Amino acid sequence: MGQGLEQQSREQWKTRSGFMLAAMGSAIGLGNIWKFPYITGENGGAAFIIVYLICIALIGIPIMLAEFAVGRNTQKDAVGSFRELTPGKPWFITGIFGVAAAFFILSFYGVVAGWALSYTTKAMSGDLLAVPADQMADHFVGFISTALSPILWQLLFMAIVIIVVVKGIKQGIEKWNKILMPTLGVLLLILVIRSVTLPGAGEGISFLFSPDFSSLTASAILVALGHAFFSLSLGMGTMITYGSYVPKDVKLPTAAVGISLADTGFALLAGLAIFPAVFAFGMNPGDGPGLIFITLPAVFEMMPFGQFFSVLFFLLISMAALTSAISILEVPVAYFMRKFEWSRKKATWILGIIITLFGIPSSLSLGAWSGFTIGGLGFFDAVDYLASNILLPLGGLLTALFVGWALGKKKSLEIGGLSEASIWGKLWILGLRFVAPVLIIIVMLNALKLI
Ligand code: PHE
Repeated sequence: MGQGLEQQSREQWKTRSGFMLAAMGSAIGLGNIWKFPYITGENGGAAFIIVYLICIALIGIPIMLAEFAVGRNTQKDAVGSFRELTPGKPWFITGIFGVAAAFFILSFYGVVAGWALSYTTKAMSGDLLAVPADQMADHFVGFISTALSPILWQLLFMAIVIIVVVKGIKQGIEKWNKILMPTLGVLLLILVIRSVTLPGAGEGISFLFSPDFSSLTASAILVALGHAFFSLSLGMGTMITYGSYVPKDVKLPTAAVGISLADTGFALLAGLAIFPAVFAFGMNPGDGPGLIFITLPAVFEMMPFGQFFSVLFFLLISMAALTSAISILEVPVAYFMRKFEWSRKKATWILGIIITLFGIPSSLSLGAWSGFTIGGLGFFDAVDYLASNILLPLGGLLTALFVGWALGKKKSLEIGGLSEASIWGKLWILGLRFVAPVLIIIVMLNALKLI
């Protein structure tokens, strides 16, 4: 009976487009608008972007399809799906890593999303644009290094995430995504146009599009790969979990390609909105995590109706972060609901609160606790590094090996919705068996300073 109930109560996306939008909502988030521009800036620009695009095509898309396939076939959470496909084997550990990664990532994701929420209200009140452009950096650093205020915004953001996930994702999220994602696209386009038409924008455009491979370091390649996983929401069971709500008639390969293209397009647009302005104002592209909180407000000050756009921009970033955060919380929630037979409400509140508490030291590490470091990194950076550069690639590697080898070619092609005769089927299996694992292993050994 338990089985029957579980089957019955398990949600499904209402429509194909609802699923696509939810998965895009998961993929498109702070990774695209906040993180991609600043890591591109820190790692030398165009050459880094090319490496990133290669990672998306060769590793990201095949693994996204693998995650969808595993989830939809089993209709189970990140851990349960591996158990069902290979009972009695240790593959389920992949899902455990995923749940751990979700825990770490959401902890600091909530901190940054809290900044975006706070900036939304600062933009609304007019306080933000009253700050002179050359003092924006001090303003931002002053804010995030304060002990209490950023934490309160983080708590507010996480409370919203929890409330939405408690209600179940189907109705609210599908509808919100439908409105918010296209609006975010339009706003980014407007910002791109403003940014690329600023006097002195050319330098920023060439920073993005004329590669200088001599500036590319091994660590930059690791960052690109880690970010491909982060941005596509891979390696931690998000797409397995979202895939588990996908109706049978959806074509998974097309979905994986479409979602990856949309995600990459958003990241590139964010770069185009930011770097031309960074150079035009003589700022430093390698400024790190403060880029969108320092540079963009300065751009808004130059724009007609700048305040209006700044409000919408930070509001929509907050919403983009929200749709991603929901998908992250859904990973442990789906797991705990099945494994411990917790209600959705109980799982969401308990896990949400634990994750939020774990995010507090991340916030404090940017100010009061900055003296406390792990391997030379502050707490925030250490958690980000562990999750994005170790756990996500490891989860991706194991997923690739699982679908590429452990399941057997026939079964994999069947659940992925590709035929053995087609070139895409062959490329997918090849990618999962060799290309993705070899590249991920090289990059990870390098990260661990073993090669
Ligand atoms: N992809 C999201 C972003 O770019 C973050 C995320 C990572 C979401 C992992 C889910 C899983 O912001």
